[in-house]
Amino acid sequence: MTVTAELVLAGPRPLRGTMRVPGEKGISHRALLVAALADGRTRLRGLAPGDDVARTAAALEQLGVGVRGGGSECVVRGAGAYGLREPGGVVDCGNSGTTLRMLAGLVAGRPFLTVLTGDESLRARPMARVAEPLRALGAFVDGRDGGRLAPLVVRGGTLTGGRVELPVASGQVKTAVLLAALQTEAGTEIVEPGPSRDHTERMLGALGVAIDRIDERTLRLPGGLPVVPAFELDVPGDPSSAAFFAVAACVTPGSRLTIEDVCLNPTRLGWVDVLRAMGARITAEPTEERLGEPVGVITAEAGPLTGTTIAPDEGMIDEIPALAIAAAFADGVTEVRDASELRVKESDRIGTISQELSQMGIGVETRADGLTIRGGAPRAGLFKSHGDHRIAMAAAIAANALDGESTVRGWGAVAVSYPDFADDLAAATGA
Ligand code: S3P
Repeated sequence: MTVTAELVLAGPRPLRGTMRVPGEKGISHRALLVAALADGRTRLRGLAPGDDVARTAAALEQLGVGVRGGGSECVVRGAGAYGLREPGGVVDCGNSGTTLRMLAGLVAGRPFLTVLTGDESLRARPMARVAEPLRALGAFVDGRDGGRLAPLVVRGGTLTGGRVELPVASGQVKTAVLLAALQTEAGTEIVEPGPSRDHTERMLGALGVAIDRIDERTLRLPGGLPVVPAFELDVPGDPSSAAFFAVAACVTPGSRLTIEDVCLNPTRLGWVDVLRAMGARITAEPTEERLGEPVGVITAEAGPLTGTTIAPDEGMIDEIPALAIAAAFADGVTEVRDASELRVKESDRIGTISQELSQMGIGVETRADGLTIRGGAPRAGLFKSHGDHRIAMAAAIAANALDGESTVRGWGAVAVSYPDFADDLAAATGA
């Protein structure tokens, strides 16, 4: 699969039929990391394609873990945490914040030095949120700007455990702390300031690790490196990728699309509720459970949308670029509030979303922690990804729904999570 530098699309092209999206990105990272801690050979299928998850696999190899295969399938030869070795060089996490933050937690309990870095965008993203709680567990973590920016340096060792308060509600940070907490001598209590995605707890719980949710905000888990058995997993489809196709179907007249085999974890479906509040015809039906995760079918159909208020919790933050496109096509005003985290994603998404919507002729006002979108009649044109995969996909689904030809510059950014996006969109539209 080659990702072209530019995507040129002439719409409108309705989406019809049944499709699948690639494996869930966060579960793919987690499955690789947990497999590295497990005892024996873990077989993973349907891993998220793209550079981000490949970075986690490559980093594990640098840590001495056998990872055979490539692309969507692989076998990980786990030898437990004791099997991890000091990497011989700097670990380059590319554009993947998930890789960098979660790895920091994995190596925090190991008696060696790890240096973690990434591309220019990742080196500008906040790291104190992961450095601070790992230090509270007893790890030595430093980095540029006093440990606030990568490269991060982790000198792992004996971890104490106890009670750790996370500075932000974040699935990545919580996972880093969970992976470190398993390596503490005593158990650990992790207190979250707000809800965040819970894939790691579900996966470890399904594999027999005794994780207790004491209350909405507090998790307790054992230390002493509980034995995690090797496992098999067909990674379910990524709801964040499904969101782009579902919104594409909602805004392109004549569409009716079914997306099968999608992870329907409730912490990931806030965007479905938002679309419903906008009047969209969308359903999400679980059909089975897989390694603790509900999996099922999403259907979405074109219809009129109205503006709404969106106050994203962490669980919906990745879908705001897709929801912003729904807002652009909706009647009335959509407010995105309390979303300052958008500023520290792969791009400053408050700025980049507003630039691209303006380019479509949509009225947008930005604030420090949100934006106001005046829906109306967006028009085709020249759009840019700003090096951010989700902004690229948002521009593509808008282009697909708009009358006339549009171009998305910097299309290569989709390579980090969904290299085949343009092909899948073409297939869904019969193009
Ligand atoms: C992720 C959590 C979110 C999300 C990221 C993946 C995860 O980040 O934006 O794409 O896999 O836990 P934060 O934890 O920084 O909110």
